[in-house]
Amino acid sequence: MPPEDELTELLACPRCDKSPLSYVNEKYRCDACKVDFPVVGGIPWMFAEPEYSLGEWRNRLHFVLKRLGQDVQQIDFELKKNELHVLTRKRMQHQRKAAQEHRDALKQLLKPMDVQASDTKIESYLAMRTRLPADQGLNTYYPNVHRDWSWGEKENAASLEQIRHVLSGNDEIGDTLVLGAGACRLAYDLHMKCKASNTIAMDFNPLLLLVADRVTRGETLNLYEFPIAPKSMADYAVLRELSAEAPVRDGFHLVFGDVLRPPFAAARHDTVVTPWVIDIVTENLPALAARINTLLKPGGRWINFGSLTFAHPGFSRRYSPEETLAFVQDSGFDSPVVHEATIPYMCSPASRHGRQETVFTFSAIKKDKVAAPERHKALPDWIVTGKESVPLMRAFKTQATTTHIYGYVMSLINGRRSILDMAKAMEEQKLMTRQEAEPAIRNFLIRMYDDSQRQTRF
Ligand SMILES: C[S@@+](CC[C@H](N)C(=O)[O-])C[C@H]1O[C@@H](n2cnc3c(N)ncnc32)[C@H](O)[C@@H]1O
Repeated sequence: MPPEDELTELLACPRCDKSPLSYVNEKYRCDACKVDFPVVGGIPWMFAEPEYSLGEWRNRLHFVLKRLGQDVQQIDFELKKNELHVLTRKRMQHQRKAAQEHRDALKQLLKPMDVQASDTKIESYLAMRTRLPADQGLNTYYPNVHRDWSWGEKENAASLEQIRHVLSGNDEIGDTLVLGAGACRLAYDLHMKCKASNTIAMDFNPLLLLVADRVTRGETLNLYEFPIAPKSMADYAVLRELSAEAPVRDGFHLVFGDVLRPPFAAARHDTVVTPWVIDIVTENLPALAARINTLLKPGGRWINFGSLTFAHPGFSRRYSPEETLAFVQDSGFDSPVVHEATIPYMCSPASRHGRQETVFTFSAIKKDKVAAPERHKALPDWIVTGKESVPLMRAFKTQATTTHIYGYVMSLINGRRSILDMAKAMEEQKLMTRQEAEPAIRNFLIRMYDDSQRQTRF
């Protein structure tokens, strides 16, 4: 299938920023880096190390499938107990059916990813300094799929309304880029209801984009929702129909990629939208703001929408709205137009859980070009090259001591020793006095026990 011309022109190499790319043998190619970017399920896979990232996401898919298979086995095991209440048995049978069907549905949906195994070495991946955050799984934002394409009309309308508010009547948004687009409902609404020429929705999660692709092209998908706090027995797993109001009009494109290495040509976009994303990426906001400036044409517009919850280990990076706006202006933008409103968030009709969020939306016009930020480095040199000394950070020192102690406690568990026996052994090893060791071991085992009792969740 030939690529759509307008998309080819807007793409760039995520390794060296070269644009345009060529299209050879159904792959995008950077002639400078001599790297091919495949097309997965019809969507360009534009990661700096395409093969390795494909392998990583594939592993995450296999992990999810395995977990669902284990859930079915666990349910079968528990169903053998004679003492189960008739209703408990009924609920578990419902959950078993859902887990099994969901596993089959995911396998089918994500088939485009399950191609030949990659032989790329980890070293070459690390050298690219990109990395999939360890806490991002295939299902991290799975509830978005149902909100976007099934029950979420009120929430989706409220989201679009926030954007319209800061557009102040000027909805000629031109070539629009939505970064961290999730299941893409907002991108679809912007394309269908505002005057976008082309809209590119980018995310790194294959489940979200493969769902968005099928639904926005007019298909109806059936996928289970697994609410956090089911309202009734039937709500433990709800098979939902996912669909869009109408097939998306021309000019709407999906792209797999990393917000921190956006695979797009510089100064080619009229609008960049960042919905619920600037506070969750690992990059520091001033660098991200400069990156967004680089993507925009002169006079282009950055629209941000969502919560502002910068949860960083360092206090200096837990930015307030005031600091956020200051960074926007320091990055070559005019004074932003701001709108705040409280809207419903993830209030599934099948769940008792749901919240209100006071969202922070701004629109800022690019007035000056700023220096492009350095390429994002996900990992420090001492990890990537392996040649520099590993720094003895304070956190590492503490972890080394606790890991040693915990490792020793775990090695003492043999099915016969009590906590008191273990405390005695710790004292003999001169790790702690018996009085200190006993509560420490108990607390550690409580945590281990709690972990073993935790419910797996899709
Ligand atoms: C809180 S969700 C918001 C999703 C969507 N914008 C919405 O409003 O429903 C954050 C999204 O950003 C994506 N994301 C996070 N870090 C990313 C990165 N570095 N590159 C690309 N996508 C990223 C996640 O996969 C997820 O879809």
